[in-house]
Amino acid sequence: MGYPGRAQGGWMLLVWVAAVSLLFAEGRRVRPPRCPVGCTCTKDNALCENVRSVPHTFPSDVVSLGGCTSLIFLILLDKSPFHSFRSFVKSGFNEIVGASFVHTPALQLLLFTANTLDFIDEDAFLGLPHLEYLFIENNRIASISPYAFRGLKSLIHLSLAYNNLETLPKDVFKGMEALTKVDLRGNNLICDCKLKWLVEWIHQTNATLDQIYCSGPPIYQGKKINDLLPHSFDCMTAEFASYQSLKFESISVGAFTFGDDQYIQDIDILKIRKPNDIETFMIDGESFFVIADSSKAGSTTVYKWNGNGFYSHQSLHPWFRDTDVEHLEIGNKPHLILSSSSQRPVVYQWNRSQKLFERRTDIPDMEDVFSVKHFKVKGELFICLTRFIGDSKVMRWDGAMFKEVQTFPSRGSMVFQPVSIGNWQYAILGSDYSLTQVYQWDTERGQFVPSQELNIQAPRAFSMVSIDNRVFLLASSFKGKTQIYEHLLIDLSN
Ligand SMILES: *[C@@H]1O[C@H](CO)[C@@H](O)[C@H](O)[C@H]1NC(C)=O
Ligand SMILES: *[C@@H]1O[C@H](CO)[C@@H](O)[C@H](O)[C@H]1NC(C)=O
Repeated sequence: MGYPGRAQGGWMLLVWVAAVSLLFAEGRRVRPPRCPVGCTCTKDNALCENVRSVPHTFPSDVVSLGGCTSLIFLILLDKSPFHSFRSFVKSGFNEIVGASFVHTPALQLLLFTANTLDFIDEDAFLGLPHLEYLFIENNRIASISPYAFRGLKSLIHLSLAYNNLETLPKDVFKGMEALTKVDLRGNNLICDCKLKWLVEWIHQTNATLDQIYCSGPPIYQGKKINDLLPHSFDCMTAEFASYQSLKFESISVGAFTFGDDQYIQDIDILKIRKPNDIETFMIDGESFFVIADSSKAGSTTVYKWNGNGFYSHQSLHPWFRDTDVEHLEIGNKPHLILSSSSQRPVVYQWNRSQKLFERRTDIPDMEDVFSVKHFKVKGELFICLTRFIGDSKVMRWDGAMFKEVQTFPSRGSMVFQPVSIGNWQYAILGSDYSLTQVYQWDTERGQFVPSQELNIQAPRAFSMVSIDNRVFLLASSFKGKTQIYEHLLIDLSN
């Protein structure tokens, strides 16, 4: 069967109602159906002009014949010089409203072929438990209620071919257990997360679908929807949602466990005036910690646990006003990166035989780095370097040195913190003069992309804590309230 072209539709509405396959019980008297106003009826069909809705009187008469098992509503727009498109739309018959067919419960087949239907309402086919064939073809259907087909338990064949559908509401075919054939050809389906459910449905249903193609987005344009795999849709996204404010200022924040309870520890700004950095780590089963010393003649110092207490083990890098020290492993060997306000960051490597850190290299073109934090993506080592004014940077270890990957304008930044949550990798760049920027790692690009802004007064530290399968981001604030955000996953296909 060919589909009449959309453009040729004229502007006179003809409702062609044909009763086919009338099976009359032997000996029963055939009573012709009462013909609705505006229609011309013969024994098996009716032709209606200018009706503004589905006629109610006619079908109930047909059904009352008892033997009628199917009806075809062939709704056609014919060419007519007397009716403009606009006046037709105003007539109101551009949607199938709810419960249009409650008077015809015996219907087994419905066919709409028109040029103007654009919406199918909730419960449009309510009260049709025997309907097996539903054709809504060659219309302008652009939108369907998620409950449009509710109650169609016996429907075998559904066609929405040649409409303007860009998407279909999730689970619109739910409960239609008898479906064996669905025709969605000739629409403009956009294969994005909203349509992921359809791809899943195609994979698990027993019904067959005619071959259909994606009209977008660009990466899927022209691809066969039937060939797409549900897991090729990346529909999970995440955000930090404000959860709680604590009524105090802080320069550092961390979480610790005591018994079965989680606590959050803030280091109050009244107790520590100068933010100095402490790192603890183990080497070959021995415990160490290191303190960066930002005073003028001070030396960053490594301390070692000797069984009774921590004792000074090695002095590193005197006179350089170190602002931060980061412990990390490069090629499975312990390293320290010291950043200072007077020179470029320096990388130290642990010498196993001497049991001392030795200067290995420095990080070029990066004077006045406030802090260095490391993270790993797929086994590759990266560092975030914070600068107060200028550019903060992300660098990657190439086997011999750190090389720049990306630059981030910094305006009063004292923290650039990498944060890993499951498969999500973030870098959070605080600012004293504007909003904190959250960047998310884009695996395909191998770079961070902006993902969110957070309003925190003078942030100084970020840290993660997991409680009962929920993940929280703690944000210390030097001037305002310490903020707690919850990391929430959002499924765009829902
Ligand atoms: C598909 O058909 C099989 C065999 O008749 C049946 O067991 C299964 O439940 C059907 N699946 C769906 C989703 O209807
Ligand atoms: C460790 O120090 C020893 C003695 O100074 C030196 O011979 C050796 O090359 C150093 N090892 C490394 C890996 O630098």
